[in-house]
Amino acid sequence: MNLVPGYVETLHDNLQIFLEHWGPIDWRGRIEQVRQQDRPEMAVLLAGLSGIEDDSFYMQNKLKHSGSARLDPVRQFNSVWLVEEADHGRALAALARKYTGDASLPSSFDHSTFHRDRRSIVAVPALRATSLYRRGALAAYFALGTTVEYIAVTTYKALARTLDDEIARDILMQMSSQEGRHMRFYRKGAIAVMSGSVVCQRFVREVLEKYWRPPGVDLFGYDRWVRIFRPLLQDNAVQEGYLRLDEICGGLPGLSGIEIMKPFMARCARSLEAGVDPRLIPSSGVE
Ligand SMILES: [Fe+2]
Ligand SMILES: [Fe+2]
Repeated sequence: MNLVPGYVETLHDNLQIFLEHWGPIDWRGRIEQVRQQDRPEMAVLLAGLSGIEDDSFYMQNKLKHSGSARLDPVRQFNSVWLVEEADHGRALAALARKYTGDASLPSSFDHSTFHRDRRSIVAVPALRATSLYRRGALAAYFALGTTVEYIAVTTYKALARTLDDEIARDILMQMSSQEGRHMRFYRKGAIAVMSGSVVCQRFVREVLEKYWRPPGVDLFGYDRWVRIFRPLLQDNAVQEGYLRLDEICGGLPGLSGIEIMKPFMARCARSLEAGVDPRLIPSSGVE
C-alpha cells in the first residue's frame, strides 16, 4: 500500500520549478548610488519591512512546531526561501538608511527592543495542536504563506511606484518578483493539499478566519503596525491591492467568499480616521 499522499509528488514538481530561478537580488554594489533623502516616514516603513523580513527566522520556528518541515520538498524550499528573505531584510535596512536624512533610525527598530505581540506567542501551542492533523497543518502553512507573499508583492510594487530613485525602484521590483515566485510555490502547494478534502478546506478556512493577521502585526502589535504602514494604507491603489487578497484566498479550494483582509482594512480605516496617537507618529531621530 502506498502511504505517501498524492500531493507530495506535486510538491516535488513545484519545488523543481521554484529552484530553476532562485538566487540573490542585485543590490549590494548599487545601494551606494541611491540618493540620500530626508523622508522619515519612508525610512520607518522600510525599516519596519526589514524587521518583518528578518522575522522569517521566527516563522521557521512556527513551521517546525506545525510538523510540516518534515516533508522533503518543504524543507528544501524553506532553506532557499530563508536565504532570500534574509537578503531582502538586509537590502531594505540599507534602503531605509538612505531615507533618514541626517538622523538615525528610531531606536525602537533595534531588534533587541522588539516586543512581540502576545497573540503570536499563543499561536505556537495552537500550531503544535494543528500538527496532530498533518494535512491540515500543511495546507494552512501553504495558505498562510500565500497571503504573506501576496502582501509582500503588493507592498514592494507599491513602494517602487512611490520612490523617485531608479535604483531603489529596481531593487524593490527585483524583490517583488522573488516574492511572486515564493507565492506561486505556496499557492500551488495549497491547491494540491486542499483539493479533494473538504475537512482540510474547512480547517484552513477556520485557521485563516480565526488567526490570520497581515505580516508584521504579530511582530509590532496592531497600533505600531498601522503607524508604520500608514503611508501605504492611505494610498487608494494599495488599499485595493491589499483587498484583492480575499479574492486570492477565495480562489483556493473550498475557500470561496472568504473575507479576511476586508475586516482588517475596515479596522485600519477606523484607526486612521480616529487619528494615530501622536506618540506613535514617527519622526526622525530617537523615539
Ligand atoms: Fe521577502
Ligand atoms: Fe517571500
